[in-house]
Amino acid sequence: MRLILLGPPGAGKGTQAKFLVDAYGIPQLSTGDMLREAVAAGSDVGKQAKAIMEAGKLVSDDIMNAIISERISQPDCRKGFILDGFPRTLEQADALYHMLEGKGMEIDTVIALEVDDDALVERISGRFTCGNCGEGYHDKFKQPAKEGVCDRCGESDFKRRKDDNPETLRTRLFAYYKDTAPLIGYYHAYRKLRTVDGMADIGDVTKAIRAVLEA
Ligand code: AP5
Repeated sequence: MRLILLGPPGAGKGTQAKFLVDAYGIPQLSTGDMLREAVAAGSDVGKQAKAIMEAGKLVSDDIMNAIISERISQPDCRKGFILDGFPRTLEQADALYHMLEGKGMEIDTVIALEVDDDALVERISGRFTCGNCGEGYHDKFKQPAKEGVCDRCGESDFKRRKDDNPETLRTRLFAYYKDTAPLIGYYHAYRKLRTVDGMADIGDVTKAIRAVLEA
C-alpha cells in the first residue's frame, strides 16, 4: 500500500502514521523528520534547510524531490510506504507521480485530514516528543501514563520543536493554504482522495482511516 497523509501542520499526520506503521508493516516517510535529522547532523541539506524550517517556510522542491526519490528506492519501501509531509506542492506531486511511474507503481490512496485552524493552534502549542525514541505527546490530549516518563522507552528527556510557536505557525499555515491545499483538488481529479474528520479523538481518527483503507 502506498499512502499519502495530507493535512495542515498539527492535523495529526505523524500521530496517525505511527499507528498505520504498526497496523500495515510499512514505513512512515516523514520529510519533516528527515530534514530535522539532516539539520542535527549538520549535512549540506540540513544547513540549507535550517533557517527555512525555523521560519516556517517550505524547503525547495528540488531538495525534497531528491530526498524522497532516494528514500522510496530503498528495500523497505518495496511493499509500500506512508508519506507524511510530502508532497507539499503541485510540483512535488508531479515529481512523485513520475518517480513512481518509472517503477511501475502509483499512489493508492490520499487521506486528507480536516481540522479547524483553532484546533491546529492548540495542538501545535501543546505538542512535545520523547528526545530518545520520538514518541509524540500533547499537554492536554496525549500525556504520558506516568508524568515525565515516556510510555514507550521509559526515558525522561522530552523536547519541543523550535517551529512550534504561534508566529511560525502562522507562516506554516499560510504555506499550507497557498501551496499544499491545492493538492486536495489535484488528488480528487486523480480519484485518489478520501477525506477524514481529523477533529475527532486520536483513536477515532485511526478507526476512520482504517475503515477508508479497508473499504
Ligand atoms: P513537518 O514536520 O512535516 O511539519 P507539519 O506539516 O507542519 O506537520 P506537523 O508535524 O507539525 O503536524 P502533524 O500533522 O504531523 O501533527 P502531529 O501528529 O504531530 O515539517 C516541518 C517543516 O519541514 C516545514 O515547515 C518545512 O519547512 C519543512 N518541510 C517538510 N516537508 C517538506 C516538503 N515536502 N516540502 C518543503 N518543505 C518541507 O499532531 C500534533 C499534536 O496534536 C500532537 O501533540 C498530537 O499528540 C496531537 N494530536 C494529533 N491528533 C490529535 C487529535 N485527533 N486530537 C487531539 N490531539 C491530537
